[in-house]
Amino acid sequence: MGFGRGKVILLGEHAVVHGCPAIAVGIERGVTAEAATAERDLLRLSPWDLALQPDPKGDEPLERAFAAALALYPARPPLEVRAQVDLPAGAGLGCSAAIGVAVLDAIDEALGIERVRADLATAALAWEKVFHGNPSGIDNTMSAIGGVALYRRGDVLRPLHSNKPLHLVIGYSGEPSSTKEMVASVSRQLDSDPERVNKAFEGIKVLVRNAKLAIEAGDHIALGQLLDLNHTILCSLMLCTTKIDEMCQAARQAGALGAKMTGAGGGGCMFALAPKHDEALRLRDVLGESSFVAEVSA
Ligand code: MEV
Repeated sequence: MGFGRGKVILLGEHAVVHGCPAIAVGIERGVTAEAATAERDLLRLSPWDLALQPDPKGDEPLERAFAAALALYPARPPLEVRAQVDLPAGAGLGCSAAIGVAVLDAIDEALGIERVRADLATAALAWEKVFHGNPSGIDNTMSAIGGVALYRRGDVLRPLHSNKPLHLVIGYSGEPSSTKEMVASVSRQLDSDPERVNKAFEGIKVLVRNAKLAIEAGDHIALGQLLDLNHTILCSLMLCTTKIDEMCQAARQAGALGAKMTGAGGGGCMFALAPKHDEALRLRDVLGESSFVAEVSA
């Protein structure tokens, strides 16, 4: 069975596209997939009831991504891949990358190919590039490898260690967003006002550096404050919606140590950091039906 995790970026999204470090976690919710030889190449996706053939010029990005994935295996029989997606799409949790990782993992298994997860992450970038013009690589890397880690474009993933688990509560606004468009919006702002946007990136860099220390020291009060500050900077880049901001405020008022939008923004998901497991469950009730708890050990 192939598996690709979802991911939550704790700090550093968008800045990471422009070479700054970011901290992210892999969550156990994601995409599973199975592949088997068949009469023709086909990708079935549940629960969306989609059946797609690979097409490098197709209108549907999944057709192009599937073609890009299959092109990585030049000599092979036709394959049918069945994937089960347990993540909201376009929500900042790395759904497209998780599908790519799961599909490649399943094909590897069907063809008897052994490769380490870091190489699977690299291979899945071909898939991810179809969806996002200029992906930093953080989504496919965290999807394949997981844990809590510091990621920087072009660098090896640096796992972070702590003896205190992170109690996260992820809330979905129900507003879908496009990573490609949000990344393009930040690039446009960078072109038109480099001083302001580079200042924002510099601020995020300092927050990421301090968050690494806070995670390693198990200082979740400090980490929560850093999350709030990163959220404010992302709002200044016009990435946050009213709904996401209200959800963050509600979580803070209900006792979260910090709360922040995550991923590309423009809708999608936010998350809150809870002090303990039972408070995470309480925050889940505050954030509504589609929210869920993710406990991550560093
Ligand atoms: C998307 O999950 C994170 C972004 O930083 C884009 C990327 O890193 O490719 C917005």
